Amino acid sequence: MAMTRESWQTRIGFILAAVGSAVGLGNLWRFPWMTSENGGAAFLLVYLGVVLLVGVPGLLAEFVIGRRSRRNPVGALSDLSESSAWSAFGHVFVVTAVVLLSFYSVVGGWTLRYFAGSFTGAYFGAPGAYFDSINYGVEAVGFHLLFLGVTALIVLRGVRRGIERATKLMMPAIVVLLLALAAWGVTLDGASEGLAFYLSPDIAFLQANFLHILPAAAGQALFTLSLGAGTMLTYASYLGEDRSLAADGTAIAVLNTFVGVLAGVVVFPILFALGVGAGGGGPGALFVSLASAFAALPYGQVVGVVFFGVVVLAALSSSISMLEIPVSFLVDEYGLSRRAAVTSLTGVFAVTGAVCALDQGVFGFVAGTLVDLLLTGGLVGFMLFAGWVLGADAVTELQRGSGSFARSLATPWLYAVGVFIPVFLIFTFVSGLADAAGVAVGPLSLLGVTLGPTRILLVVTAVVAVASFLGLRRSRSVL
Ligand code: PFF
Repeated sequence: MAMTRESWQTRIGFILAAVGSAVGLGNLWRFPWMTSENGGAAFLLVYLGVVLLVGVPGLLAEFVIGRRSRRNPVGALSDLSESSAWSAFGHVFVVTAVVLLSFYSVVGGWTLRYFAGSFTGAYFGAPGAYFDSINYGVEAVGFHLLFLGVTALIVLRGVRRGIERATKLMMPAIVVLLLALAAWGVTLDGASEGLAFYLSPDIAFLQANFLHILPAAAGQALFTLSLGAGTMLTYASYLGEDRSLAADGTAIAVLNTFVGVLAGVVVFPILFALGVGAGGGGPGALFVSLASAFAALPYGQVVGVVFFGVVVLAALSSSISMLEIPVSFLVDEYGLSRRAAVTSLTGVFAVTGAVCALDQGVFGFVAGTLVDLLLTGGLVGFMLFAGWVLGADAVTELQRGSGSFARSLATPWLYAVGVFIPVFLIFTFVSGLADAAGVAVGPLSLLGVTLGPTRILLVVTAVVAVASFLGLRRSRSVL
């Protein structure tokens, strides 16, 4: 099967497609939303920390597994481990893809709507009310279906022609437009308060809310890098040549983070200038702030058309990567034709996305907490797999095509992804689960010792981590 798999046509094709997957609504829409709900700069700080310390090593874990196996996530885990437990775990990624695309396609629909609305200036009069009138309901379902249809068409045309081409133009356009909007936004009245909210962290707030901020910031860091879903693994599986995975991974992470941080510099000054303020943005933060900006700008309609046009492209280059995961699974594992796989999956997403488009509560849960948990859990799996199942092979794979600096870091990387980062992510996952379930953790008195919330979560983390490591040792562990 590996012989007949497609591979990237150009050297730069892989980077472009991976950046295309990473840069999307996560940076432009979800990041301002999450930041506004989690204390602004405090969130930004934790988010950046996770991108750096977890994101880059995590990307490399997915790349290594993907290039080594030349398979989809399920096939990769089962082939390389020859274990049915890992194969079963692989199916989580199919679920993750369904969850991701269900809400993403709804937001993609919103961007299509704003793109169309820019021609007529539909949202110029009352940006806040306009967003509230289009976000959920039957029309939102229609735009979701349109967005999903376009995504399916691109994926149908195959890895090379569809995906590579679609991603080539959009990056420079996004960066230039965001820079121009940021330069304009910071001159507004009230902008400095927005910048302060976004850029100067309130450490006392961070300490008091750490267990709430951490899972959201980690989830966002993984989401924006397309990590923990098997996307990056799948894209690396199409790599037909030796490339420096470390160099590519670092470039992708830097570029992607730059776009996200820049989106915040655009959104927050405008939101504060509008009087929306901290915490008030919600899922509409991007749309309401930009709509107001375009309404106030000379040639706002033209700017709006161009900007939302580019956002649609960015969203598509990410949504195609989400659809690619279950498609490659059905094609590789069940021998379905690409057409049959795309068609049947699109039918499923049409329904699951419609549910998100109709119900604000479902949307909020799926797009927020559920995704954070699935991606965090998924990445723990990939990292443990790289560390304990591939072990020395992972080091060899990472070193293939790398320069001497990256080669020397390969073994420390293996310990990081095999032990340290999973422990951190398990803590994050457990905190997120407790937060989502509304469980007030502790204080608890055990044998005369009183444990606060953080300690209780640490104890649970230690138990889960040790149990996983013991389980893994029994298979073919190398660490
Ligand atoms: N990284 C994408 C974004 O920021 O919009 C979203 C994404 C794509 C997440 C693919 C996960 C994924 F597998």
